[in-house]
Amino acid sequence: MLDQYKEAIEKTNIISKTDMAGIITFVSDEFCNISGFSRHELIGKNHNIVRHPDVDSSNFKLLWETIKSKKIYKNTVKNRAKNGSTFYVNTTVIPILDENENIVEYIAIRYDVTKEVFYKEELQRKEKELEELNKILENKVEEKTKQLQELNLTLELRVQNEIAKNEVKQQVMFWQSRLASLGQMLANIAHQWRQPLTELSLTLFNIKKASLKDDVEGVSEYYNQSRVIIQNMSNTIEDFTNFFRPNKDKHYFDLMTSIQESLHILNTLIKSEMIHVTIKSIENIKILGIPNELSQVIINIIKNSKDAFVQNSILIREININIQREENFAIIEIQDNAGGIQEKEIYKIFEPYFTTKHATQGTGLGLFMSKMICEQGFNGSLDVTSKKCTTTFSIKIPLEESHGD
Ligand SMILES: Nc1ncnc2c1ncn2[C@@H]1O[C@H](COP(=O)(O)OP(=O)(O)O)[C@@H](O)[C@H]1O
Ligand SMILES: [Mg+2]
Repeated sequence: MLDQYKEAIEKTNIISKTDMAGIITFVSDEFCNISGFSRHELIGKNHNIVRHPDVDSSNFKLLWETIKSKKIYKNTVKNRAKNGSTFYVNTTVIPILDENENIVEYIAIRYDVTKEVFYKEELQRKEKELEELNKILENKVEEKTKQLQELNLTLELRVQNEIAKNEVKQQVMFWQSRLASLGQMLANIAHQWRQPLTELSLTLFNIKKASLKDDVEGVSEYYNQSRVIIQNMSNTIEDFTNFFRPNKDKHYFDLMTSIQESLHILNTLIKSEMIHVTIKSIENIKILGIPNELSQVIINIIKNSKDAFVQNSILIREININIQREENFAIIEIQDNAGGIQEKEIYKIFEPYFTTKHATQGTGLGLFMSKMICEQGFNGSLDVTSKKCTTTFSIKIPLEESHGD
């Protein structure tokens, strides 16, 4: 029975025996299979016939020290087959003792772990590859982040540059529009002075006539008349210089008064063009800003209406100004019946330089500037609607709670 057990074990396992000097005395079939040597190539040879050159000699030193001291040696060993291929075996070497406890031989039982070791090595290799890949990726991310940061920086600079350029452009347009309205104002003054100048020369002629006739009363009457005319002319100049005084301090002012002042400046124009202006206002509203700037907006809008009246040859010319309060806003609506604005043009009228007028008549900056003043000077808005033959501009200005009334 013992022989049968022995045979069963020897048939199925990788077993070898050596004598005390390490010379092979027995090998199982499985040992021959895995090593590639035939039995007679192995028997009588030193066991180091399957030794792999990679394995350090210190391993064998430890093996011999262990088994010579009658202890069992266990280790996973790298071996080389006859054809040079590598195999790994989990090895147990047991010293066999006689009845006097002397070593008689060594028996080594192994099992094949080549696949496991290979898998482990493969896994380690892959892990290393992955680690390297990770490192490369990390470097790339770092590089890209740096590039992005640099890009961000230059982008910021570029945006700042653009903003600065834009500001300069707006400033230029602001002065262009100021100049344009200055031109309009000068034309207004000239227009407004034409009549009193004629009157004045007539009065001077009358003074001359009266003095020739020694008509003292007549002279003083015509003299007084002249003074009134001159005073009137002086007032006109006063209005305009007030308008152009670079008064840049924001303060609360009465909306109705400011609009009436604007209309006063346009008085001659309104009269000579036979425009009928009505103002409706229910309550006194005070708004925060620069009065001259609001005047500029009102004058721009009314001058546009006048231009449209003339261009469209409107006979009955009406402008309705409606001032009201809606919640926390002052709303100024200026409506004319000057023919309206075509749908394909209405969305362009606030663009700078958009004009439908001849180059000597229009700059296309009036409404652009007006909108800018409403938005930036008054924190409000300027909008337009047009239906049938009317156009309505609405200025919306927010009111401060404490100064609402
Ligand atoms: N009340 C209005 N009725 C009809 N068209 C208008 C009116 N107001 C403005 N527009 C149109 O809007 C254009 C732009 O106006 P604006 O910016 O003041 O420039 P400009 O008066 O120099 O042409 C005008 O050319 C005109 O075509
Ligand atoms: Mg205009």
